[in-house]
Formats: sequence, C-alpha cells, structure tokens
Amino acid sequence: MDIEKILSQMTLEEKASLCSGRDFWHTKAIARLGIPSAMMCDGPHGLRKQVGEGDHLGINVSIETTCYPTASALANSFDREVLRTLGTALGKECQAEDVAMLLGPGLNMKRSPLCGRNFEYFSEDPYLAGQLGAAYIQNLQAEGVSACVKHFAANNQETRRMSGSSQMDERTLHEIYLPAFEAAVKQGKTRGMMCAYNGINDVFCSENKMLLTDVLREKWGYEGFVVTDWGAVKDRVKGVQAGLDLEMPGGTGTQDALIVEAVKNGTLSEAELDRVVRNMLQFVADYQDNRKPDTVIDRTANAALSGELAARCAVLLKNEDSILPLKDETVAFIGEFAAVPRFQGAGSSHVNVPHAVSALEAAAGKVRYAQGYDIHRQDNEAQLLSQAVELAKQVHTVVIFAGLPDSYESEGGDRETMEMPANQNALICAVAAVNPNVVVVLHGGSAMELPWLDRVKAVLYMALGGEQVGKAAVELLYGNVNPSGKLSETWPLRYCDNPSYLNFPGEEGKPIYAEGIYIGYRYYDKKQMDVLFPFGFGLSYTELAYSDLKLSQTELDDTETMTVSCKVRNVGTVPGAEAVQLYVRDEVSTVHRPIRELKGFAKVYLQPGEEQEISFTLDKRSFAYYEVKLHDWFVESGRFFVDIGASSRDIRLSGCVSVNGTAELPIHVDRLTTIGELTSFPKGKAFVEQMIAARKAHSQAATADNEKNMGEGSDKIVKSMMTEMPLCSLVTYGVMTFSQLDDLIAMLNE
Ligand code: BGC
Repeated sequence: MDIEKILSQMTLEEKASLCSGRDFWHTKAIARLGIPSAMMCDGPHGLRKQVGEGDHLGINVSIETTCYPTASALANSFDREVLRTLGTALGKECQAEDVAMLLGPGLNMKRSPLCGRNFEYFSEDPYLAGQLGAAYIQNLQAEGVSACVKHFAANNQETRRMSGSSQMDERTLHEIYLPAFEAAVKQGKTRGMMCAYNGINDVFCSENKMLLTDVLREKWGYEGFVVTDWGAVKDRVKGVQAGLDLEMPGGTGTQDALIVEAVKNGTLSEAELDRVVRNMLQFVADYQDNRKPDTVIDRTANAALSGELAARCAVLLKNEDSILPLKDETVAFIGEFAAVPRFQGAGSSHVNVPHAVSALEAAAGKVRYAQGYDIHRQDNEAQLLSQAVELAKQVHTVVIFAGLPDSYESEGGDRETMEMPANQNALICAVAAVNPNVVVVLHGGSAMELPWLDRVKAVLYMALGGEQVGKAAVELLYGNVNPSGKLSETWPLRYCDNPSYLNFPGEEGKPIYAEGIYIGYRYYDKKQMDVLFPFGFGLSYTELAYSDLKLSQTELDDTETMTVSCKVRNVGTVPGAEAVQLYVRDEVSTVHRPIRELKGFAKVYLQPGEEQEISFTLDKRSFAYYEVKLHDWFVESGRFFVDIGASSRDIRLSGCVSVNGTAELPIHVDRLTTIGELTSFPKGKAFVEQMIAARKAHSQAATADNEKNMGEGSDKIVKSMMTEMPLCSLVTYGVMTFSQLDDLIAMLNE
C-alpha cells in the first residue's frame, strides 16, 4: 500500500471518515482507494470475536474458543516464556479468525485489591507488568497480529470508570503508572495503544497531549496508532490535536463531521488530521501484508496449553506438614467451585467456552463431593453445610474449593470488600472443626482476606486459571506438577492496610493517589508492616538453594550496564521451578524511595539435584528514580544493594555496587532557598562556608554566649536553625540588603 499516494488522493471527508470505526469492531474501508477494513477483538486471554452486531451487553454471542488464564494469574508465573507461548497461540487464533488486532494486554497497576478489573491486570509492580506484557506482545505480533495495550493510563478502578480522573503527582505517574506501558512500546514494540476512559489530573486521556504525544510519541518513540477505549471520546477535535487517532466504536459518523468542520474553520490543521490517516493506513497495510488466511487452529492442543499454563501460574500459599501433594488417603472435594470452577472474569474479556473442566471432573471418581455452599447465595444454607461437615468427618483430607464469585469482581464495578462470601468462610471453619486436614483451593482475580488461614493446612491459589483450571488444580494437588507461581501482588492482612484505602475509589470520581509511589510492597515494606503474603511469595514441593552471587563490577557509571549472576539448585527430591527475583535498594537517598524495588526476575525449571546459573543485566533504570526537576529518570550517586530473593521478604543473597550518576540536577536558587539547600552544590557550599567563617571571626565568644542564652547543645541548635533559614532571612536579620541578595542569587544561579 502506497500510503502517501493514497493520502494525496483522499478528500477531507474521506480522511475524517477514517477517524472512527465502521461499527463496533471494524475500521472503515474505502473501496475507491483500495483501503480494506480491519477487525479488532477483545482479548486478551482468549479471543472474543462477536459474530453479527457487536455489543457490550452480551446480546450477541462470540465464537466458541479457548479461554486461557487471565492476566493476574499469568503474572503469578513470573515467567516470560508463559506469556510468549500464550502470545503465539492467540496470534494464530487471530489469524485463523481474520482478526487484525487483539485488544490487550491490560497493563494497569493493581493499586487497590478492590478494583473490579484486577483479574485483567498483571501486578502492583510496574517492572513485572511491563516485562510480561512485552513478552506477550512480541510473540502475538510475530504472528502478524497487532497488540493493543490498554488502558493508557492510570485506569485503576471501575467506579466512575468512564468519567473520573486519577489525581497524582508527576513522579508517581512516571515511576508507577507509566513504566509498564513504556516497556510495551520500547521492548514489546506494540502497534496499538488504547487510551483509557478516565482522565489524569482533570485532563481526559482521550485528549491528553502530555500522555498521547509528549510522552508516548516524543519520549518513547511510539509509531503505532491510538484508539479510544470504547466510548471514551469526550471532545473529538481536542483528541486529534492531542494525539488520538481512532474513535471506537464507530458507526454514527457524528464526530467525523466535527473533524471536517474543525478543519474547514481552521481549528484543526489538515496536517494533524493527516497524522491520523497515516497511522490508520499503516495499520491496515500491516494487516494486509501479514494475513495468513490458511492458519488452522488445533482446539484440543490449545485447551491442553491452557491447562499447562494454569498449572505454571498457581501459587502454593501454605503447606503445613507437607499435606500436599495428596497421597493415597481418602479425599473429599467440597464447594461448588469444585464442580463449577470460576475460571475467568466478567465483562469485555469474557470468552465463550464450550466446556470448562472442573476439578471434580478431572479427579474422575477418585474423590467424594459435597456442594457445601451456593455460589449465588451469601447466607448459610444449613443443609449444604451439614452435608459437607458429615462428609468431612468420613475422609482423611478435605479440599475445599472457594473464592470470589463472578458477582464479586467484574468489569464495570469495584469489589465492595476484600472478604470472601460469608457462607464460604463459614463452611471452611465448620469443616476445619471436624477434620484437621483441610486444603483450600482459591479462585479469584485479586487478594482476599483469609480469616480461617490458621485453621487449614494448605492453600493453593489458582487465581482465574482459564478453562482447564480444574485439571490444573488436580495435577498440582496430586503432585504431578509442582507449584511454582509467586504472588504478583501483596496480600495484606486486612483491606484497611492497603495504601490506597483512604482514597479508593475517591470522591466525585476524583481519587487522589495520596500514597504516591508507595503502591503494594513499596508501601508495606516502607512501613514495616506485617502482611498475609508478601509480593513474590510462593511455596514449592521441593527446596531451592541459592548461592554464588556475582556482580560484574563494584563500581559503574549510570551510562554503563552490569551483570549480576547467581546459582539456584534444586536440593529436594522432585522436579520444581523457582522464580528468582532481583531487587535494588538505594543505601541513602536525598528523595524518599521505597526500601527495595524489583528490577529483574527469571524462572528456572530444575530436576532434583540440578543447578543453573542465572544472570541479570542492570542498567541506569535499575538504579534511577523519576526526578521531577529533570522530568526524567535520574541516578543519585552512591551505594546500592542488589538483593536476590525468593520473595520481596525472603532475600537469600545480597551484594552492593557504587553507581556514579552522570547527570546533574539543575540548580535553582531564589529568595526562599534555604541555607541547607545551598550546601548541596559547590558554589552554594562555598558561600555558606564563607559566611560561617565570617560569623566565627566576628564573635569569638559566640558559643559561650549562646549556651547562656539557649542552653546546652546550642551549637547544634544554631546550626539547624541556620540550615532551615531561607535566603531572604539574610536581609531581615540585617546581613545584607535585598539588592545584595539578588546579586548573590544571580551569581549562584549562573
Ligand atoms: C473495555 C475495553 C475493551 C473495549 C472493547 C471497553 O469497555 O474497557 O477493555 O477492550 O470495551 O470491548
């Protein structure tokens, strides 16, 4: 497709027509110019291709296909390979179904456990989310299908999801809420980006130039197109000016007419419109060039893959007395989720699955069963409960399948509580009272409160594990597969411990991100709080030993990279895997910083006795924070610790490196700059030293007098008073005149 030639032949109306879709899922075709239409579909953990008219209400069903584990489960794998495999499988499915773009992955941070869409998001950690997202995107796009990263940006709740605004400072935005998207652009090379419904600091993402142009295109070098979330346009013309391309869903043409009018009356330049058209033509050209219409999908193989991935994502949260894996004892499965598993979330990502395998089905007659609770009722049904308790008395081990029902978490609404349904909690307590061997299998997209934890022996968290979740659970319970997932989000003891608690979901649609950069473990660690399960935590049926930490250097400039390596050995008796995590910790810092932050991770699969060496590369970003004075990442020179851990709170090896930051902070001195602040740069320091020397020379008896006036330790008091003194005090205390002060300030700013 010759994009420039087509562009030159287009009328203004044709150009504007490409700014919105044809219907719910397609871009517009222009037959006269040979421009085809291309289809977009949800995702992201299965193909939701609607046949017939599109809608959001589930009126028209989508095609039957495979449902894979959702993002929050996938992230627990801590395994880029899991995401790559999924990307490839989905890319092939899109090709077979003639889908040009898959609407995902979702890279928003899990700020609060109560966000209704947490199951669609990877993590509370931007590095983990970015790395996993990029791996998925690379392989999806290698199949010739575009990814569409969403929801850009700071879309962390469902309350007022289409009209709210996330209020936060610049550092928080850049350090926490943008980096996963940045990785998707720079590393993943995503060709699509979906702007979020919400605003950031009162500017809607769909018309946010800072976001869509200054950061996305200019800073990160993004070359793809930006589509609105479905129905996110507020002011269409402003959107084009800010860097927005396609409006979805389309079909009405109303907003296209506004674009034509704006070009005619000079509000919008034709060059701005041409940018949209070029981006849209590039998208359809890519689609045309990469079509593989002969792709055939093996649904059986995909179902098996879904189960395999689910098993690699499961997290073993507790395993007292090594009750798991189950041996030959008598076992009962209790809980409706054992028969009807919860394996995906509700909303636009919902996949039409012909059959989901339950644990009961997978256990094939090996276990006895009682329903225990009713998923659709909260109260305690006496009969179900007593049947379950009776059964529990008759078996050696009980596995209770529990967690969040669909009605508890979904797109379009936030969770009301972090608690599980009362009838399930009651069931677990009642069963634990009659049987000492209770295992709980949990389904749900985000953290839950587990008030009964100390009454049960084991907990296996399957998250929302896709259509084969029941099979995967049984494989794990019986030890055919060894759990190796780690939590991609901290589980606090109580909801009120969460850092966003006081400001979620905020008032009048304007949540204030008052916790700043302290999201998830960054907060709990800084406050030295106990948590239920830390970030990065997960048990195994084997034991992994860490050794031989090596840092390629002990000193480096922030323009260089360094390598960190260590060895991990499976010292147990069964095959297993370990997600090794690398955290960086700044020893001393002028700005406030988290205790430690994830900067590397790797998953290794090891036979008993096998050892592998793992290596990580660290670069400037591993040590930097976002410095608002520079509007950029900045490394403050000093010593940093490199911690290798099995979780954020289980550090096994630790080394340190001195990093030399090569950038300098701009100096800005004004009348309110304090004497203390002056000492942070040479010229300022020299002035302060000179002033102190003059003061000393002037009053030999100063110390003695001060002690009389102020009491003991007066030198220290005087020093701290001076440190806090703004420069204008030099005038008010008669040291100099305003005109002399302004000369001094000018000299210091030079
Ligand atoms: C959701 C998106 C989704 C789109 C299309 C929106 O309501 O927020 O995640 O891709 O609809 O279904």
